[in-house]
Amino acid sequence: MNVVIRDTYEEMSKVAAGIIAGFVRAKPNCVIGLATGSTPIGTYRELIRMHKEEGLDFSQVRTFNLDEYLGLGMDLDKPYHLDQSYARFMYEELFKHINIPKENTLVPDGLAQDPQAYCQWYEEQIAAAGGIDIQVLGIGGDGHWGFNEPGSSLASRTRVVALTQKTLDDNYESFYKNAGFSRDEMPKFAITMGIGTILEARNAIMLANGAHKAGIVAKAIEGPVIAQITATAMHLYRGEMTIILDKAAASKLENIDHYLHVERAMRELHK
Ligand code: F6R
Repeated sequence: MNVVIRDTYEEMSKVAAGIIAGFVRAKPNCVIGLATGSTPIGTYRELIRMHKEEGLDFSQVRTFNLDEYLGLGMDLDKPYHLDQSYARFMYEELFKHINIPKENTLVPDGLAQDPQAYCQWYEEQIAAAGGIDIQVLGIGGDGHWGFNEPGSSLASRTRVVALTQKTLDDNYESFYKNAGFSRDEMPKFAITMGIGTILEARNAIMLANGAHKAGIVAKAIEGPVIAQITATAMHLYRGEMTIILDKAAASKLENIDHYLHVERAMRELHK
């Protein structure tokens, strides 16, 4: 596990975008796992800049999103703030600005007729694409990856889950409230890739910023591994996971000096 700490959100986002762009350049038809939420917005903006100014080419890239609220699907007839689907988020924050074909982007369908069967189908699509080359993750206030809420099995697969009160509160404050929705109007269920699904990605990066994430980030990175904080599954990951933090999100790490030392040492090694 690599822990990379940058002073600002902008610098952190550039590191993350640089890693993703490296995959796109090395393997133009790579498969990327994507997250929504406020954390990766800076990363997506940087990828959009790279596409527009440097010609970063997404024409063969395929993407799979981590999750979607049950009951929501993209509705382009609505203004963005009234369409809180994650499919719309991805369209507005990334897809519509780059040259990725629509059919190459898969966000779980919150309107699926048979959500359980759909989850199985989603897993099959990831497998048929050859698996995920690079998975982008955030971390929830309760330590979740995707919508794998506390207590989720660390071997779980794509499925329908009930959201915790903490997640409902966090997402209400970050998104729904500003759009004028009442708490009752928020979906209480979601489809999410499982922790087991996420752990199968060949590479992964986890991003976190802000002092409000510092406590949970420290618990996730410095263990112990527990199902109550599903992001602690990072310690079961077989590949090399890179955790990219801004200074504020890193502020409660006990071993911060060690992570800074390792990053400097690795930079020397690769000079
Ligand atoms: C969203 C997702 C979630 C978020 C997490 C953090 O697709 O997978 O796990 O990464 O809830 O959300 P923000 O970035 O809004 O703090």
